[in-house]
Amino acid sequence: MDFSLSEEQLMIQQAAREFAQNDLKPGVIQRDTDMSYPTEGVQKMSELGFMGMMVDTKYGGSGMDTISYTLAMEEISKVDASCSVIMSVNNSLVCAGIEKYASEENKQKYLPDLATGAKIGAFCLSEPEAGSDATSQRTTAEDKGDYYLLNGTKNWITNGKKAGIYVVIAQTDIEKGHKGINAFIVEADWEGVSTGIKEDKLGIRSSDTSSVMFADVKVPKENRIGPDGFGFKYAMWTLDGGRIGIAAQALGIAGGAYELATAYSHERAAFGKPINRHQAVAFKLADMATEIEAAKMMVYRSAWLKDQGKPYSQAAAMAKVYASEVAMKTTVEAVQVHGGYGYVKEYHVERLMRDAKITQIYEGTSEIQRLVISRNVINGDLYLPID
Ligand code: CAA
Repeated sequence: MDFSLSEEQLMIQQAAREFAQNDLKPGVIQRDTDMSYPTEGVQKMSELGFMGMMVDTKYGGSGMDTISYTLAMEEISKVDASCSVIMSVNNSLVCAGIEKYASEENKQKYLPDLATGAKIGAFCLSEPEAGSDATSQRTTAEDKGDYYLLNGTKNWITNGKKAGIYVVIAQTDIEKGHKGINAFIVEADWEGVSTGIKEDKLGIRSSDTSSVMFADVKVPKENRIGPDGFGFKYAMWTLDGGRIGIAAQALGIAGGAYELATAYSHERAAFGKPINRHQAVAFKLADMATEIEAAKMMVYRSAWLKDQGKPYSQAAAMAKVYASEVAMKTTVEAVQVHGGYGYVKEYHVERLMRDAKITQIYEGTSEIQRLVISRNVINGDLYLPID
């Protein structure tokens, strides 16, 4: 067993840390307040090769491993989880699935723009009445011969308004249940595609979340991903990888709050000594450090399993459920360590606390992760990569 990171992984971690601390931190409070999209941050992430980190270099990506991706996600999330979710969705919910399962023609057509950040991707699965119960899709794609006619509404879509390319999950044959679901690549400027308002959210406020509507959109046959009826398994495979990204995001949010709380505990004195000389505060820091370390092991291991081509569905679900709980607990305690200062925006921890909550909800709620874990525990690790 070797816990060390490679030279390349350490360099990526350092580059992501410098980018987050130098470029993202200065404007992060303002962007959170006015819900403004991190345009410059996304531009810089594109220049750093973070928008298509795991995509093969032949399609314009950075050709890195999943561990490097989790390291970059973690460092960026310590400062700005709005930015990291934009990156995460583009990498693991859009690029990864297209690279693994789309036709060669579609890979060549779509991946270079997505991997370089020239176009942003969005993953359209959730609907007003189908969140956790993802097989109950109401969006339909009617087979019209040489194209599909797409109709329906998708909700809570990250990158909804900014995306140039959508991966859309839709029902093509209701009779067949999940085997009648397909995934399609849809371009944002096609006739019949529109978006709703930017959602006013509790956290990750500067990220772009909206509904996306499809009204009689003609999707060419060749834009279906994989064989007919493969869409649900495609979505599940994609989400297994996405959950590693969100677990890394949760780990980063927790780490960011811990770093701030530790630094503040040295500066702030009470009863004649720094507050970290009081056991009440010191033990909080000890618990944070211990739980973050445990989450880190789970997140890195799930990424390692994916890189090794081993089953990682259960490991990803475990990493997400645990890291998101650690993020929630650590950020609440970091506010507590800061006392009254923690409750105001200037000290960053209240934003991290608000941002942490979404990691227990998106890309499968904690309840869904427990469902996935329990099925694996009872039946064995079920989901090998599908080739
Ligand atoms: N990999 C491959 N195949 C899988 C799979 C996986 N991880 N999980 C399930 N499958 C297959 C099953 O083998 C089964 O196939 P067969 O019938 O051929 O055996 C099929 O898919 C159906 O599986 P289930 O019977 O387990 O389906 P279910 O209805 O019980 O639900 C679920 C499964 C795990 C609850 C699933 O619906 C789920 O993950 N729901 C949560 C959806 C989710 O995460 N949404 C997040 C939205 S995306 C988002 O948040 C994006 C964003 O912008 C940030």
